[in-house]
This record gives sequence, C-alpha cells and structure tokens, in this order.
Amino acid sequence: MMIYKVKSYEEMSKKAASIIASQIIIKPDSVLGLATGSSPVGTYQNLIELYKKGYIDFSRITSINLDEYKGLEPTNNQSYRYFMNNNLFDHVNIDKKATFVPDGLEMDSDKACGDYEKIIESYGGIDLQLLGIGRNGHIGFNEPGPAFIKDTHCTDLTQSTIDANKRFFASEEDVPHQAYSMGIGSIMKAKKILLIACGEDKADAMAKTINGPITPEVPASILQLHKDVVIIADEAALSKL
Ligand code: F6R
Repeated sequence: MMIYKVKSYEEMSKKAASIIASQIIIKPDSVLGLATGSSPVGTYQNLIELYKKGYIDFSRITSINLDEYKGLEPTNNQSYRYFMNNNLFDHVNIDKKATFVPDGLEMDSDKACGDYEKIIESYGGIDLQLLGIGRNGHIGFNEPGPAFIKDTHCTDLTQSTIDANKRFFASEEDVPHQAYSMGIGSIMKAKKILLIACGEDKADAMAKTINGPITPEVPASILQLHKDVVIIADEAALSKL
C-alpha cells in the first residue's frame, strides 16, 4: 500500500483527481470504478476542471459505480445515479450509455445483481477503482459481516451506515435500508485501487484497514492483499495508525 498523508480535503481531492486523470491519459478507454458520498465530490470537481481545461477526455471512458440504494428512482436526488449525473457525468463528455450504476428500481435482487455482474464482466473488469470508506470499514456497501461477499449483492445497511447517511435525507425514515453493492471480488480484481478518506470519524476504520487483521468484520482490511493500492488521507483519518 502506498499511503499519502495530506493536510486537507482539497489536497486529497487534487491528488486523487491527478491519479485518475493520469489513468485516463495513459488509457483513454479505461474502465473506472466510481464511488459516491462526500469523499469523492472534490475529486470529481477537480476532474471537471481538468476536463474543461482540455487536459482529459472522457469520450471513450466507461464507468461502473459501486452501489445504489434499492428502491430509489434514478431521478430521486438521493439516488447514486442522480449523484453521479449531478457531480460528474453532466459536466464532462462521457457517453451516458457507458456509465453504469446498479438498477435501484429492480426489486428482484437476483436479477439486479446478476445483470450488474454481466456488465462488469463484459467490460473485462475495472482498471482503476475509486473507494471511500465507511466509519465501520465498509467499501461500496460491503458491510461488516461473517464473510466477504464476492459478487454484486443486495445488502442490509447497518445502523452505523444509516446513521452516517441520514444527513443527506429529509429524515431517518427516508433512508433506504437496503442497497445493491459490487462485491469484494470485483473490487479486488481492479488493476489499481485508490482509497480516499478525510476526518477523524474515519480514523478507526483506517487504522484497522491498514494495520489490523484481515477480516470481513472490517471489509476494507482485505485491501492489504491487493498489489496496487494508493491511499490518500488527511492527518485526522490517519491519526490512529
Ligand atoms: C458510496 C460508497 C460508500 C462510501 C462510504 C463513505 O458509493 O461506496 O462506501 O464511500 O460510505 O462515505 P462518505 O464519503 O460520505 O464518508
């Protein structure tokens, strides 16, 4: 693991965007695994700026997002499809048909997850996977549990995740309790992984991810087994190492 300790969210975002931009320049038809949440917003803003300045071109890029709430329509402003359109896709020249997010409206979980697996396979996996990390060590919505789940699956969100995400919803009752998430297998098969984290509320999870035992109780700990992981985190997030 290569760990960059940065001073601020802005510095983290700039560095993360330069790594993604390099990937796009080196391989213009890259498959990018993308994340939502507050961590990558600044990274996406930096990528939009680089695009507007003419440094990067998304026209041949494919994106495959990590997750989506089950039951939310793409037009719901809390859906991850809406987030991606709003924070990145609407501002760059990516072909929307080449952007994938699990289908939150498909209530048949087996079908939703099976279809997503086929999409990931058909593009030959992910070149660069961007990850945030949950306070409980989740990546995507791979929540702590008795075993790592390899494939795309429907997951019950833990109370910790519901608590962390309720700030985005009008009330806690509005937070969906289930989500579709890419599995640990697809994340680990990505050629390169970029994990970003900011703030003291991530310090526990980061310490366990980097130094703790590899356990499904801390899903991100499996990243210790990946050969090309770059972590960009601020001092607070790395304060318990
Ligand atoms: C979102 C995702 C989640 C978030 C994590 C951290 O697509 O995969 O694992 O990365 O919950 O969220 P923030 O960045 O809001 O702290």
